[in-house]
Amino acid sequence: MKFFIDTANLEEIRSAAELGVLDGVTTNPSLIAKIVGDPSNFTYNDFKRHIARICEIVDGPVSAEVTSLGAEEMIAEGEDLAALHENVVVKCPLTLDGLKAIRHFSSKGIRTNATLVFSPNQALLAAKAGADFVSPFVGRLDDISTDGMALVEQIVTMYDNYGFMTEVIVASVRHPQHVVASALMGADIATIPYAVIKQLVTHPLTDAGLRKFMEDASVMKK
Ligand code: G3P
Repeated sequence: MKFFIDTANLEEIRSAAELGVLDGVTTNPSLIAKIVGDPSNFTYNDFKRHIARICEIVDGPVSAEVTSLGAEEMIAEGEDLAALHENVVVKCPLTLDGLKAIRHFSSKGIRTNATLVFSPNQALLAAKAGADFVSPFVGRLDDISTDGMALVEQIVTMYDNYGFMTEVIVASVRHPQHVVASALMGADIATIPYAVIKQLVTHPLTDAGLRKFMEDASVMKK
């Protein structure tokens, strides 16, 4: 199972990379907006430079999302982003135009991540269009009283039934249980916010045990 970090924050990406368990990065326009100080000074070129910086930190897939709605515009934007670095994966929304763009990128050997996926049929279409990754948003489904992880289970089963090579990225992860459930279901990847990555590491019994070990070790002379 691969771990991606779901952030555009370079410090968080560096910190997660230092742990030695990071396989890739996902970003989206909302995550980019969080790291922009003054939006009036942040240009498309700044965005591209930021994605290139992420690629220097992590040697794995880095999803950069298109911000157009029409297929032609998505294609132009995605080709531009893909030219930044070999690890850039073009993230396209699962819409009619997004599907057309994914099919185009697939025929050109440009990797894609179908995003904003909330139903099994959307995931099926992403795979048929040749998406390399599909991103079901589990937390946002949970937010509307729908079982987000049940969607992941359906997608994993459907892809296994037909041998689709599209990798499932569990996205919109909100807590450690989403990660455990992803692993039990055999999802390929979980893209995890930095705060949740830290939660995966910690356990109160580890902390209590360590405190006691340190206390007992202090009887020894250095
Ligand atoms: O990468 C996109 C996805 O993970 C968004 O998460 O928390 O905004 O629903 P969230």
